[in-house]
Amino acid sequence: MNGARPRSWLPPRRWLSSIEALLSQGFGGRLNPMHYLGALTIYFFWIALVSGIYLFIFYRTNMEGAWASVEALTHNQWWAGGIMRSLHRYASDAAVITLLLHIGRELLRGRHRGPRWFSWVTGVPLIWIVLVFGITGYWMVWDELAQYVAVSSARLMDWLPIFTDPMSRNFVSEESVSPRLFTLIAFIHLVGLPIVVVLAIWFHLLRVRLPRINPPRPLMIGSLLALVVLSLVLPAHSHPPANLDAVPQLLAIDWFYLAIFPLMSVTSEGVVWLLGTALTGLLLVMPWLPPARRAEVARVHLPDCTGCGFCAEDCPYGAIDMVPRSDGRNFELEAKVNADLCVACGICTGSCPSSSLFRARRPLTSGIELPDFGMETLRGMLVDDPVSGRSPILVVGCDHGVALEMLGPEQHGIRLPCVGMLPPSTIDFALRKLEYSGVLISGCDDCHHRLGDCWTEQRIARQRQPDLRRRVPRERIHVRWLKRGQEPMLENTLREFASRLPQDQQEGES
Ligand code: HEM
Ligand code: SF4
Ligand code: SF4
Repeated sequence: MNGARPRSWLPPRRWLSSIEALLSQGFGGRLNPMHYLGALTIYFFWIALVSGIYLFIFYRTNMEGAWASVEALTHNQWWAGGIMRSLHRYASDAAVITLLLHIGRELLRGRHRGPRWFSWVTGVPLIWIVLVFGITGYWMVWDELAQYVAVSSARLMDWLPIFTDPMSRNFVSEESVSPRLFTLIAFIHLVGLPIVVVLAIWFHLLRVRLPRINPPRPLMIGSLLALVVLSLVLPAHSHPPANLDAVPQLLAIDWFYLAIFPLMSVTSEGVVWLLGTALTGLLLVMPWLPPARRAEVARVHLPDCTGCGFCAEDCPYGAIDMVPRSDGRNFELEAKVNADLCVACGICTGSCPSSSLFRARRPLTSGIELPDFGMETLRGMLVDDPVSGRSPILVVGCDHGVALEMLGPEQHGIRLPCVGMLPPSTIDFALRKLEYSGVLISGCDDCHHRLGDCWTEQRIARQRQPDLRRRVPRERIHVRWLKRGQEPMLENTLREFASRLPQDQQEGES
């Protein structure tokens, strides 16, 4: 195995990878729900929005009519309104589950650090927005649970020194509730928050190039069906109507949205605010907490840059700008790296037409490369390494995929920061010049850098520049995306790939 940069993963990250590996086996990598947690959260919001619009048609926006209209909807038309109501609730709960998993996954994969701090930090307010969305939703039913939520949230707000008139005064008795307050909450839930959520998600994704905002269709259909079944088996019901002259008993709490209120009962309003603020503060500073490591960013080597712009098109982080030529050569543009946005994934090296092991120049350079992992390093791994070319199969892995340490003498493995860094001509070079019988590319399932897997496939399929030359026999190339923990699957894949390779090639080399 070559490319032995340190790769230490904390146990929680290894556990995450093992769980995801199991799910990938069950669902297949392309449908693994863990790969679409942000997109699933958006999808569940859509379901909540559409079902919410249906509910609103029958809803009466005042304290007198709210409970009765929801009851009528739930029971008189259970086959439509009832299902819609349950769907609205369960889709909202599902959004919290996927949101929490999304946060945990990005954190464990270290995707909150470096230039990704922007998506992380802009995600944090979304947690609060979603929480307020859910809480105001529970007000709308105006049942005993709504009464509990209203009284508790008023107490929580009163703890802050911002209101001259305490909000709790609104809920002393039935007569004291201001109808305007109810209308205001309904307006916030129905109009204000949906707009804020859309704007906040747009801002959150502002720096994510080609974000996946829709899960694949089978996942959409499957999760919608699961929610419909849940709605039929366990339909959502209201509590008895709110009665401010009595204290509600035995409430079924929705722990996804309302957990702060029982916490408030066993501690105090101050403790809830303190915990909320501390947690928010901690999340906000996470990207800069140790261990902060930052690899050296990509550098442009102007003598090799023709200003084609492929690197700028491929960089998943939008870290490359094409700017007017500065060296007097007869090209219009040159690439320029924005050091604040570059995460040193190396994908731009794979995009650059000048990244080629066929070139005789020493030292071998490319138009754009990582200072500590450039074309010379790749050359060293493939051309100068005496082991290279002696085994039939070359395995190209990445820093985030399967461990290549298990490879036997029949395979030579090299590990890149991302497989998207592999210039396609390297495959041609490995097969023709180094006389490998086959090349297996096995980057991480759900690319850590989001687009490296996609670009690699497209370059091999000649759908993206620079593409793999037509003359390269595709049956001698195999691509398999695997997670760390799926090493046994790599072994099977290798065995199966080796058996498919033309025998004369293998014999010729052995
Ligand atoms: C309503 C809530 C949220 C939604 C709908 C959402 C949605 C998304 C989507 C669709 C992506 C792009 C995924 C991809 O294309 O690979 C994403 C990325 C990300 N999100 Fe969220 N997100 C939400 C909340 C959060 C929160 C609360 C955090 C963290 C505190 C967070 C952190 C991130 C990070 C770090 C990325 C990765 C950016 C990158 O790869 O450069 N998100 N989110
Ligand atoms: S190394 Fe990655 S992030 Fe940096 S410029 Fe190249 S493609 Fe963009
Ligand atoms: S891909 Fe290479 S040649 Fe093209 S603009 Fe980028 S650095 Fe220059």
